[in-house]
Amino acid sequence: MGALLRVLAPWAVLLLALQLASASHVIHRSLEDEAAPPSVPPSIVSPLLRTGYHFQPPKNWINAPMYYKGWYHLFYQYNPKGAVWGNIVWAHSVSRDLVNWIPLEPAIAPSIPSDKHGCWSGSATILPDGSPAIMYTGISRPDINYQVQNIAFPKNKSDPLLREWVKPAYNPIAVPDAGINATQFRDPTTAWYADGHWRMLIGSVRYDRGMALVYRSRDFKRWVKAKHPLHSALTGMWECPDFFPLAGTGQQNGLDFSEPGAKYVLKNSLDRNRYDYYTIGKYDKRTDRYVPDDPNGDQHRLRYDYGNFYASKTFYDPVNRRRILWGWANESDSVTDDRAKDWAGIQAIPRKIWLDPSGKQLLQWPIEEIEKLRGKPVSVSGKVVKPGQHFEVTGLGAYQADVEVSFEVSSLAKAEPFDPAYANDAQKLCGVKGADVKGGVGPFGLWVLTSANMQEKTAVFFRVFKDGYGKPKVLMCTDPTKSSLIPDLYKPTFAGFVDTDISSGKISLRSLIDRSVVESFGAGGRTCILSRVYPSIAIGKDAHLYVFNNGETDIKVSHLTAWEMKKPLMNEGA
Ligand SMILES: *[C@@H]1O[C@H](CO)[C@@H](O)[C@H](O)[C@H]1NC(C)=O
Ligand SMILES: *[C@@H]1O[C@H](CO)[C@@H](O)[C@H](O)[C@H]1NC(C)=O
Ligand SMILES: *[C@@H]1O[C@H](CO)[C@@H](O)[C@H](O)[C@H]1NC(C)=O
Repeated sequence: MGALLRVLAPWAVLLLALQLASASHVIHRSLEDEAAPPSVPPSIVSPLLRTGYHFQPPKNWINAPMYYKGWYHLFYQYNPKGAVWGNIVWAHSVSRDLVNWIPLEPAIAPSIPSDKHGCWSGSATILPDGSPAIMYTGISRPDINYQVQNIAFPKNKSDPLLREWVKPAYNPIAVPDAGINATQFRDPTTAWYADGHWRMLIGSVRYDRGMALVYRSRDFKRWVKAKHPLHSALTGMWECPDFFPLAGTGQQNGLDFSEPGAKYVLKNSLDRNRYDYYTIGKYDKRTDRYVPDDPNGDQHRLRYDYGNFYASKTFYDPVNRRRILWGWANESDSVTDDRAKDWAGIQAIPRKIWLDPSGKQLLQWPIEEIEKLRGKPVSVSGKVVKPGQHFEVTGLGAYQADVEVSFEVSSLAKAEPFDPAYANDAQKLCGVKGADVKGGVGPFGLWVLTSANMQEKTAVFFRVFKDGYGKPKVLMCTDPTKSSLIPDLYKPTFAGFVDTDISSGKISLRSLIDRSVVESFGAGGRTCILSRVYPSIAIGKDAHLYVFNNGETDIKVSHLTAWEMKKPLMNEGA
C-alpha cells in the first residue's frame, strides 16, 4: 500500500477508497433490492455506476496514446485537484495489453514559462532512432489562455516506462504569429517526415474557418508555419486534428506514417458541438494539401461515433500492425454531480479502424484484447421475436457485459417511407421515432441496463425505412430517454444511418455495456454510438438485458452471445 500511495495523487487515493467501498456495497444492494425497490431517492453517486473495464482515471480531458518497447502508454489530460476541468497536467498510465492499466506519476506538468499555466493536449511522435518526442500545447499567460507549442523528450530512453520527461531550453517551438488568434491555436498532431521535412498540424480557426495549420521543420527543433493549411472548412474551431494514412479498401492492417497510404483520413474535433468528424481523401505531400474524396465531405460529416465521443486520437501499433482509435467520453451529468461523484470522464474502448470495402467510410471494432475479459458465454439461437414482443437474456451480470447479436428481418415489405427532410439528421429522426414508437420494420434491438419493471431502460436499436426508389435505409439509435429516474441528466437520443445492404435481411449489433456507458457497433462497425446513462434501479445485479421488437415485422435472432465482463486492473496501483 505504501508504494501505491506514493504513485497516486492525493485524490486518486480517495477514489481507491470509493472503489473498495463499492465491493461491499454490491452484495448489500442486490440482496436489498430483490426484496423491495430502493426507498432512497435516485442518486448519481452510487459506486455501482462507476465503469468497470473502460479506461478511467479520476478526471480526464484528452489523450495521446503510443507504443514503446513492449508497453502501451496513455498520456491523458488530468486535473490532480478535482473532478472538474482545470490545473491540467499530462497524467500517464501504461499497459502491456491495452486492457490492464498501471498508473504512473504525471509525465508533464507546468514548469517552464511556456507552459506554466497549463499543459494541454498534444501528441507523441516516434523519431527515426526509435525514441519518442511529445509535442503539446502550453498556456503561457493565464488571462487569455495564450497558447504556444512545446516539446519534451524522455530523460532516459532505455526506460520502457518513460517515467521522466525533460523540456529542452529552446521551448516553445511554435508561437502564434500575427495571423493567428492566440486563444485558438492548439493540439499538435503526431509529426511525419516527407521530402526532407518534418510536418505537424495544429488546430485553429480564422473568421469561422476551422483549419489544420501545417508547421514544417528540418531538425525537429525550429518549426515554420506553411503558407496555407493542410485543409480548412467553414465549421468553427478545429480541436485535436488527427491525420493518418490508410491501407487499401478492406485491408485491415494499419500503416505507420512513413508508409504511403492508399488514402488518408483527416479528423477534427469540432469545438462548436463537441463531435469528432472525419473525411477520407488524398494527400499531396509536395504541396502539403489534403483533398477529401467527397466534395461535400466537410458538410456531409462522417463521424467516428454518433454519440458521446470527442477529442479522439489514433496511433499506430507496430506489434499488431493496426491503427487504433481512442476517444474520450464526457459524463452526461452536471458539474455538481461530477464533484459529488469525484470522478468524471472515461476513455471509450480502443477501436481498431480500417477502410471499408466501399472506400467511403471507416470500419471500427473493439480491439480483440478486450475479449479476454469475457466470462462464460450465454447464447440464444434461432429465436423469433414477434411484433410487440421481447425476451430476456439471463445467466449473466448484465451491468457489465459484451453482447453480440445477429438479427434477421423476415421481410422489408412493411418498411416505413423515408422522409428526405431527415436525410442529414439521423439524430432528429430518432428523436421523433424513438424506441417506443411502433414501426414497420423495427424498432428492434436491445434493451440494456433495464430494470425488471421496465421503469428504466436504454434502447439500442435499428429501424428500417424505404426511400422513394424503394431502397432500404437503415437507422441506428441509442434511446436513453427512459434510462434513469435521476433528474437533470443529459439524455439525448443519439443516431446515425448505417450504410449497409440489408436486402438479405441480415444486420448485426454489438454492445459493450459497462454500468454507466453503452458503446454500440452496428453492422460490423459501420456505425458506432457511445452513450452515458445513469440508472438508479437498473444497477448492479438489478440491470437486465432484453431483446425487443416494436415493429410489425417478425425479427429472428439468428444468434446472440453475451458475456459478463471481468474487471481488469484499472489504474488501481503499480
Ligand atoms: C535508464 O533506464 C534503464 C531501464 O529501466 C535503467 O536500467 C537505467 O538505470 C536507467 N538509467 C538512469 C541513468 O536512470
Ligand atoms: C479570438 O478567439 C476568441 C475565442 O473564440 C474570441 O473571443 C476573440 O474575439 C478572438 N479574437 C480575434 C482577434 O479574433
Ligand atoms: C460535458 O457534458 C456536459 C453536459 O452533460 C457539458 O455541460 C460539459 O460542458 C461537457 N464538457 C465538455 C468538456 O465537453
